[in-house]
Amino acid sequence: MAYNLLKGKKGVISGALDEHSIAWKVAERCAEEGAQIVLTNAPVAMRFGKINELAEKINAQVIPADATEVGDLEKLFQGSVDALGGKIDFVLHSIGMSLNMRKGRTYTELNYEHMLKTFDISAISFHKMMQTLWNMDAMNEHGSIVALTYIAAQRVFPDYSEMADAKALLESFARSFGYHFGMRNKVRVNTVSQSPAWTTAGSGVKGFKEFFQYADRMSPLGNASAEACADYCLTLFSDLTRSVTMQNLYHDGGFSSMGMNPAVLGLDYE
Ligand SMILES: NC(=O)c1ccc[n+]([C@@H]2O[C@H](COP(=O)([O-])OP(=O)(O)OC[C@H]3O[C@@H](n4cnc5c(N)ncnc54)[C@H](O)[C@@H]3O)[C@@H](O)[C@H]2O)c1
Repeated sequence: MAYNLLKGKKGVISGALDEHSIAWKVAERCAEEGAQIVLTNAPVAMRFGKINELAEKINAQVIPADATEVGDLEKLFQGSVDALGGKIDFVLHSIGMSLNMRKGRTYTELNYEHMLKTFDISAISFHKMMQTLWNMDAMNEHGSIVALTYIAAQRVFPDYSEMADAKALLESFARSFGYHFGMRNKVRVNTVSQSPAWTTAGSGVKGFKEFFQYADRMSPLGNASAEACADYCLTLFSDLTRSVTMQNLYHDGGFSSMGMNPAVLGLDYE
């Protein structure tokens, strides 16, 4: 159901690779709520992803940008302001990739070149996005910036490896830049800590299937779906959350507050 929560708002959404991507669902829901969207992804994702299908569906322009390249980000946000006909109201950072994980290297044998690249793609790109928006003064007053993260930033999930450290950095950037953006433009910056979801990035984590089931049983509400994450993100882009900033917000069916759930052991609820 649509509520026109984003009527007249202009947003930039990164990370929609295919219909499983969380960003894909966010873009669809934002369009349903009346927002005008620019979609972006890495140039390489244009070749093997399905972003143009989404763009056609929601009538959005696509501007490719490698989020680790400030020059690309400048073109992205200038192009967005031009395409949308004004400053930007909301931005979604939905980008993550671990080189060490891809190469099958465990946490105790990380390659540091790969680690730096992982941090650049998965965390520093968020700072680069915000600094570019800041320098261009491209955000509207009371705008909203959201990045997606995972609870491995706070608790140990061994197979999440270096991505845990990348997410800790990402969440810290939200707090630190949130201060500056709040003081100057009343812009909010938050991270949403999402349940596991079946996407290209998610299912790349070793043992993902078993872990997905474990998290689902541990959470009183079950795992939060990517569709539910989209609903939550759009409330953060809307005017209903104008005073929420510099927070890491759990969207995980209650997982982050649990110590033990007997359901994990196959015991009945009582
Ligand atoms: N799926 C999960 O279980 C889960 C849980 C919590 C948080 N997250 C986070 O959600 C976000 C989105 O991931 P997803 O699960 O939708 O998977 P996804 O694979 O669909 O999205 C990841 C995106 O990052 C993009 N990307 C990679 N390198 C890039 C670069 N250099 N420049 C620009 N874009 C680049 C990819 O093209 C892809 O679209 C990530 O930050 C991820 O860590 C995912």
